[in-house]
Amino acid sequence: MADKIQRTLAMIKPDGIDKWPQIEKMILDEGFTIVDRRRLRLTRQEAEEFYAEHQEKSFFPDLVTYMTSGEVMAFILAREDAVSQWRRLLGPTKVSTARRQDPASIRAVFGDPSFDTRNVAHGSDSLVSAAREVKFFFPDLTLEPVLTGEGAKEY
Ligand code: PPS
Repeated sequence: MADKIQRTLAMIKPDGIDKWPQIEKMILDEGFTIVDRRRLRLTRQEAEEFYAEHQEKSFFPDLVTYMTSGEVMAFILAREDAVSQWRRLLGPTKVSTARRQDPASIRAVFGDPSFDTRNVAHGSDSLVSAAREVKFFFPDLTLEPVLTGEGAKEY
């Protein structure tokens, strides 16, 4: 099935990094292909740039401090409907909500409900975000456009 193949950006956050083998297994078991991955520590400037759309939010300083507190692992994932399917596997943003609504999700299984920041992993929220975020973590990678069912090109 080559229809609607998309790529998305997944990132394991500092609280999830020790669980990366288990998370990677869940990713593969859900039919994603890992196109590339890298482990790194974000600088303050990089974290501020990555989360720039949230810079006016009250939680922005906490988010940046947290995201620079340890290593992260970024993945390019591909499959049909990768953007929404990865967000589904992640579960709701808040770990307490994830535990109630989707106990098998990655955030419910590995997250810490005592902290709003420690929700294990991130996923692009749209194809446009995915293209930007893939470029952010993998600036030197040249990827061929993927063909959608309609024959249009998506990134
Ligand atoms: S919003 O306000 O609806 O746009 O925010 P939301 O989409 O829920 O979250 C955006 C990212 O900010 C993180 N977040 C927080 N971090 C720290 N403290 C608090 N209170 C908080 N609330 C939200 C949230 O995990 C999102 O990060 P990503 O990496 O996208 O999951």
